[in-house]
Amino acid sequence: MSEIETIGVLGAGQMGGGIARVAAATGFRVLLADRDQATAEAGKAKIAKALGRLVEKGKIDDGVRNATLDRIEPVTGIEALSVADMAIEAASENIDLKKTLFRRLDEVLPAGALLASNTSSISITLLGAQTNRPERVIGMHFMNPVPVMKLVEVIRGLPTSDETYATTLSLAEKMGKTCITSKDSPGFIVNRILIPLLNEACFALQEGLGTAEDIDTGAKLGLNHPMGPLELADLIGLDTCLAIADVLHRELGDDKYRAANILRMHVAAGWLGRKTGRGFYDYRGR
Ligand code: CAA
Repeated sequence: MSEIETIGVLGAGQMGGGIARVAAATGFRVLLADRDQATAEAGKAKIAKALGRLVEKGKIDDGVRNATLDRIEPVTGIEALSVADMAIEAASENIDLKKTLFRRLDEVLPAGALLASNTSSISITLLGAQTNRPERVIGMHFMNPVPVMKLVEVIRGLPTSDETYATTLSLAEKMGKTCITSKDSPGFIVNRILIPLLNEACFALQEGLGTAEDIDTGAKLGLNHPMGPLELADLIGLDTCLAIADVLHRELGDDKYRAANILRMHVAAGWLGRKTGRGFYDYRGR
């Protein structure tokens, strides 16, 4: 496998933008792709804003900000990733969508390129099976907010080669991250633990055990969690939390993983958390 210089990040949302920012900050050239140019450009604009705040705080200088931004090129569609040495897919947590994207990535990227998914719960073996290079398909699960969180969870599909695994570990390390390795099992390690916790907080709210503030303060002051479970769910996105909960329930076949109705109803209402201005909390005007 040749040296990775150019990384195609597919999806310019919250996770894709974070991955692009960290990759560019650590010296990689990044093609930040989304369905249309305006979305890809908006993803880069958010990164520019965040880097601007770091300059204001004196954490980085103008030179670092500009060099990082210069390494990020917003592009339209998967076709634009044909020159990438690898792709990191960071689209929505939807099995059919990701299967289609992996088929297209396989058609477009050079035969030797590695294809990684930032999926939070979907089988890497299944995504690899959409391609003619399952040995070069791997899970690279970043945490939100990507620039702050140190972890990358690496998931090997059944056919993932030792070379792909070693390259991915070394790439994550170059990006300043620490890796854990998980078996290809629904939710892997982190979300197998986290989503039942967040979902249980939703049940607690649904059953009126306390207010959202009581529940979150309980976790913050009683358990020393940096954020309460409901505000963390709002940060992750309630649609993403629900999608993962549904994967855990369906694939593990145990009713203990069933999503709380209050979570499902928030998603049905379009109250998806911070990104829509309203979730368990109201962010409008904040
Ligand atoms: N993007 C980039 N940087 C951010 C950020 C963001 N969205 N939010 C905060 N930061 C930075 C701040 O700039 C600040 O940096 P400096 O210390 O260099 O100034 C630092 O993080 C701390 O921020 P704050 O002081 O504003 O706030 P805080 O101390 O409360 O920390 C937090 C914010 C880091 C988000 C913290 O609350 C936290 O760790 N929360 C838990 C996050 C978590 O559990 N993430 C995992 C989610 S699960 C997941 O991602 C997997 C999945 O598949 C669902």
